[in-house]
Amino acid sequence: MNAINIEDVKEELKIPDQIKIFDTTLRDGEQAPGIALTVDEKIKIAQKLDELGVDTIEMGFPTVSEGERKAAKRMVELGFKSNICGLARVLKKDIDAVIDSDLSYAHLFIGTSPLHRDYKLKKSKEEILNQAIEAVEYAKDHGLTVEFSAEDATRTDIEFLKRIYGKAQECGADRVHIADTTGAITPQGIKYLVEELVKDIDIDIAVHLHNDFGLAVINSITGVLAGAKAVSTTVNGIGERAGNASLEELIMAMRILYGKDYGFKTKYIKELSDLVSRASGLPIPYNKPVVGNNVFRHESGIHVDAVIEEPLCYEPYLPELVGQKRQLVLGKHSGCRAVRAKLNECELDVSDEELIEIVRQVKKSREEGKYINDDVFKDIVRSIDENIVDF
Ligand code: KIV
Ligand code: ZN
Repeated sequence: MNAINIEDVKEELKIPDQIKIFDTTLRDGEQAPGIALTVDEKIKIAQKLDELGVDTIEMGFPTVSEGERKAAKRMVELGFKSNICGLARVLKKDIDAVIDSDLSYAHLFIGTSPLHRDYKLKKSKEEILNQAIEAVEYAKDHGLTVEFSAEDATRTDIEFLKRIYGKAQECGADRVHIADTTGAITPQGIKYLVEELVKDIDIDIAVHLHNDFGLAVINSITGVLAGAKAVSTTVNGIGERAGNASLEELIMAMRILYGKDYGFKTKYIKELSDLVSRASGLPIPYNKPVVGNNVFRHESGIHVDAVIEEPLCYEPYLPELVGQKRQLVLGKHSGCRAVRAKLNECELDVSDEELIEIVRQVKKSREEGKYINDDVFKDIVRSIDENIVDF
């Protein structure tokens, strides 16, 4: 029993029955400096995202290269269940690149904050508004589903945000997107912003939160509880600078902590995470929630003893749920129970005295700097019980 039973506060928290994942691993994720995914890598990752069950895959930025357009066309041909979307500035040529890639879904964006208006775009509010209107109209006239993002929305004055989202809605945009481009908002801020916009806008709102202060996931969850219908995520949280809200952390927090199983095939999570790590060349931190190699490993005697009895003593959920495996690691903090478990795994029986000696040797070897892998363990056992020649 948890200190707070989620069932008791479900109503109050307004946990939605549905959320849509707008995954941008292949676009914002790929924008992380140094990454260039091949067409085949994009296809493989898209296949897994589709199997996992995301609503939309933002496949890239078609205007950028021939490869992007080729990847988009291949994804369309493959007929995924997930929608396939391409990014475009509010420019005719970018929208044409989306259309030329056989996509029927565009994510249009333009900067709206004073910084973007004055330094990047050097445009007035009216000019930005008109450019956004023209682009949304153009995309809608070409039959596209349109997602409209105000870039740097979280540092934009709310009146201008309401105006530009209102205009996008009037021109037929299907959803507006709050982009927290520099990870500048707090959970309290996103709650306020979403609640204010929901009052004003009739179409769905999505949130796109960056992780510069480590708040991307909690901000996304807070956005959803405040009324956002879709969340932008990336696998392993990759993306510009500190990255985006991590897909796997968001899904698992909603499922385990908020008690909402949205039907994602979470058993594919680890495979997908490894695939993205290999393709992007970005290693998964060992302690990365959900997918890190350490998150289901146990060494200390106290933890191992309890985990052997009941894994949930020291695990928030079972590793199989996300395609991970539990590992009991032998080392300096190991006790008899862990070593006995390892011996059982090797189908070996030793006396209690021998067990104590093996534990002593395991600790000593680890302190001498040896990592206790299977070979080192076997050498220790052999050195103590000469009857064990090979196993
Ligand atoms: O973070 C951001 O502002 C973006 C935009 C392209 C929507 O990724
Ligand atoms: Zn972004």
